[in-house]
Amino acid sequence: MPALFKKDTIMKLLHVDSSVLGANSVSRQLTAEIVADWRKNHPHTSVEYLDLAVDTPNHFSADALGIKVGVQAEPTEAQRRENEVSERLVAQFLAADVIVVGAPLYNFTVPTQLKAWIDRLAQVGRTFKYTDKGPVGLAGGKTVIVASSRGGVYSTSEGGQAMEHQESFLKVIFGFFGITDVRFVRAEGVAMGDAAKAAALGAARADIAVATGRAANQDRATLAA
Ligand SMILES: Cc1cc2nc3c(=O)[nH]c(=O)nc-3n(C[C@H](O)[C@H](O)[C@H](O)COP(=O)(O)O)c2cc1C
Repeated sequence: MPALFKKDTIMKLLHVDSSVLGANSVSRQLTAEIVADWRKNHPHTSVEYLDLAVDTPNHFSADALGIKVGVQAEPTEAQRRENEVSERLVAQFLAADVIVVGAPLYNFTVPTQLKAWIDRLAQVGRTFKYTDKGPVGLAGGKTVIVASSRGGVYSTSEGGQAMEHQESFLKVIFGFFGITDVRFVRAEGVAMGDAAKAAALGAARADIAVATGRAANQDRATLAA
C-alpha cells in the first residue's frame, strides 16, 4: 500500500507528457485524468506542466556533460547553454513532491523525448551519488505516478515483462534516484481492437483511483468491474 498524503498537505506536482500523438494520445489522456483526480483529493496542490514533445531537451551530449566534468577552465557557449537546460530540468524535478509522467511504449521502451529528460535529471550530487557502499539516491520522499500506455499486452507473461523496457526502466531509474514510491497506471492492449482498448482504459481508470488515493483500500479488479 503506497503512503498517502494528508488532504491538507501543501504539495507541488509536476505533470510531464512525452507522447508524440497529440490529441490521440492515450497517456496524455491518462495523465490529465490523474492530475485532475489528484487535485480533487489534494486541493492544496500546485501544478507545473512540462510537455517534452514540445519542449524537448537535446540528446545528452559532450556539451551537456562539459561543465560537469570540467574539461576546460572556461565553458564554451554551447556547454553553458546545455548546462542551463540540465539545471532548469533537475531543479524543477527536485522541487516537486509528486511527479506524474506520461510514458508511452515506443519500440519496446520510452519515447526518446522522455529519455532525454531523464538524462538531464541523472546528475551526480543532485539525484544520486556514489559511496564506498555503492550508489545512493538523493531524491527520495517523492511520489511518481507513471501513466503507461502500450499497444500490446506485456504485464501478464514473463516473456512480455522481459520485452518491455519502459515500466521496468522507469522503476529502476526512479529507484536509483532514491524514489521508492512509484505507482503505475497502465493501459495495455490499446492497439488490439476496440473492446481491448475499452477494457485497457477501464483498468487504467481503476489504477488511477488507487494511485491518487481516491480508493486506496480497493484493488484494481474490484474497481474495474
Ligand atoms: C512510434 C511508435 C512505436 C510503438 N511501439 C510499440 C511497441 O514497441 N510495442 C507496443 O506494444 N506498442 C507500440 N506502439 C503502440 C503504443 O504503445 C500505443 O499506441 C500507445 O497508446 C502509445 O501511447 P500514446 O498514445 O500516449 O502515444 C507504438 C506506437 C508508436 C506511435
